[in-house]
Amino acid sequence: MENIVDKLIAINIENFQTDLINWYEREKRSLPWRLDQDPYKIWVSEVMLQQTRVETVIPYFENFTKQFPTVQALAEADEEKVLKAWEGLGYYSRVRNLQSAVKEVAEKYGGTIPRSTEEFGSLKGVGPYTKGAVLSIAYQLPIPAVDGNVMRVVSRILGIWDDIAKAKTRKIFDYATEQMISKEKPSEFNQGLMELGAIICTPKSPSCMLCPVQAHCNAFAGGYERELPVKSKKKKPAVKSLAAAVLKDEDGNYYIHKRPSSGLLANLWEFANLETEKGNKTEREQLTDFLKDGFGVEADIGEIQGVVEHIFTHLVWNISVYFGTIKHCREDTSLRKVTREEMERYAFPVSHQKIRNMYELDRR
Ligand code: ADE
Repeated sequence: MENIVDKLIAINIENFQTDLINWYEREKRSLPWRLDQDPYKIWVSEVMLQQTRVETVIPYFENFTKQFPTVQALAEADEEKVLKAWEGLGYYSRVRNLQSAVKEVAEKYGGTIPRSTEEFGSLKGVGPYTKGAVLSIAYQLPIPAVDGNVMRVVSRILGIWDDIAKAKTRKIFDYATEQMISKEKPSEFNQGLMELGAIICTPKSPSCMLCPVQAHCNAFAGGYERELPVKSKKKKPAVKSLAAAVLKDEDGNYYIHKRPSSGLLANLWEFANLETEKGNKTEREQLTDFLKDGFGVEADIGEIQGVVEHIFTHLVWNISVYFGTIKHCREDTSLRKVTREEMERYAFPVSHQKIRNMYELDRR
């Protein structure tokens, strides 16, 4: 930390704040969550913007806040509808946590998002980033909001060489940003850092010539802006092979499966599938047995239709897709029978949307 204190002393914090905030106020993009100061909408935007790019978020944000315009509306909403509105954004625990947190806000705080860092920070899914972002933007509280983009910007400004892939490094950036944040305009300061990271201080080729805080930047002065931040490589993702069956009965209905209520992609809908093993049995045989043992479904499984690849942060799925015609189905099967049209109302993860869309299921 002494090291950081020296770096902070070396820059003129007041001038840095002024240059950053003036630039932000002049250049900020017009984004839908910047149109009003509604703390609920700011919260929704910040949850969506974690892990997801601004351009992707915009239509989701507009649709989500139209369907669930207030804390009360989201608190009372049916989980299936909420998941459907999030379909394709990924990291679904974000929205499950958001809905739990919003229910708590409705019950405990009469629908008003609390200003206290302890109260807001104790809600489900509200980590240090979300806490700082929402409380600074919605309520002008001087709390840092440090995500990967902000770490990149601050590492260059101050010349910090600690590895940002390590969890403990965050503390250094939290401390540094806490010392630098404007007490008068924390919202503009935090959003200025985010905006700088998005449009000027980009990962590979930062536009230093256009940078409003170039005069304060250690990395620019030393010519090492492209070497920062230091970020060690994560280990390679595991690759799993799966086989999925698009099941249809003789009346043209489809049979879909709801994932368990915890774990990866919890509560989303999918085509019945299993992780396959290399061994004596073919994929088709494994799938046939799985459908019988797991769901009481006897089906004719045809030839493989293709393979869908889906890449998660720590995992790759290669899903072999088969069509199956149901011959017999146990009454109490946990699969849900739906028409092709009804299927559209269920939230599917992207990998299974690919299956749904790719194979023009109606035309079989
Ligand atoms: N990334 C995270 N939060 C953001 C915000 N409020 N505006 C633009 N980009 C962001």
